[in-house]
Amino acid sequence: MFTKIKLISFLAILSVGFLFIGGCEDKGTNPPPHGLTLSSTNVTLAVGASTNITVSGGITPYDIHKDPDTTIAKAILSGSTLTITGVRAGQTSVLVRDKREPERDTVRVYITVTAISQVSFSTQIQPIFNASCTGCHGSSGGLNLSASVSHANLVNVNAQSSCTTLKRVLPTNASQSVLYLKVAGTDCGNRMPQGGSLPTQQINLINDWITQGALNN
Ligand code: HEC
Repeated sequence: MFTKIKLISFLAILSVGFLFIGGCEDKGTNPPPHGLTLSSTNVTLAVGASTNITVSGGITPYDIHKDPDTTIAKAILSGSTLTITGVRAGQTSVLVRDKREPERDTVRVYITVTAISQVSFSTQIQPIFNASCTGCHGSSGGLNLSASVSHANLVNVNAQSSCTTLKRVLPTNASQSVLYLKVAGTDCGNRMPQGGSLPTQQINLINDWITQGALNN
């Protein structure tokens, strides 16, 4: 009696096993997707700007299956956070993949990078000086930032107080320009305006103006 039951259950297990193997053989070559999803599959950002996309679903760890055109945008994946940074105007895409075997899930993010618009020295930069700088950098003293003389006093002029091997403004190179380094607070002594700081948007504008050639426009 007891051995009979044992035998029957043994056969039952065996047949289930065969069914399972048989089932696998019958299956199509592509198992169903595991639901890899991204918080966004379409991003538009300006040159120099970054945005984060969250990866979820599927089977971790995720990786980048195909990089974007790196002259247009850069993509870095850290855990489940995909960071995309605009390099120059254009369109490209990045493919993100999960770890499912044998066929991995992939999802594409379409990226549009837009050019930063031309900054005007007279209507966008000088008003920052007027509002936050000329109180100290007026007619007298080392650096006069008043309208009509400010451009000549900044562009290709050697710095006098700190970082004296650098120019106050070196056209196209913000990270070698004392004006930018002092308003960003990254180098060259006291951050400007002394005792405070400009809003990020104005600091970025000064960066863009220098990057675009520090024009007197
Ligand atoms: C409260 C007074 C004060 C304000 C406001 C101020 N500065 Fe200054 N700035 C100084 C002093 C003092 C120095 C010289 C000492 C130093 O570099 O910290 C200086 C130095 C500088 C230098 C270096 C010049 C050189 O040749 O080395 C730059 C560039 C500069 N300021 C830009 C600015 C800008 C741009 C603003 C406005 C966003 C600003 N400053 C607002 C007081 C001020």
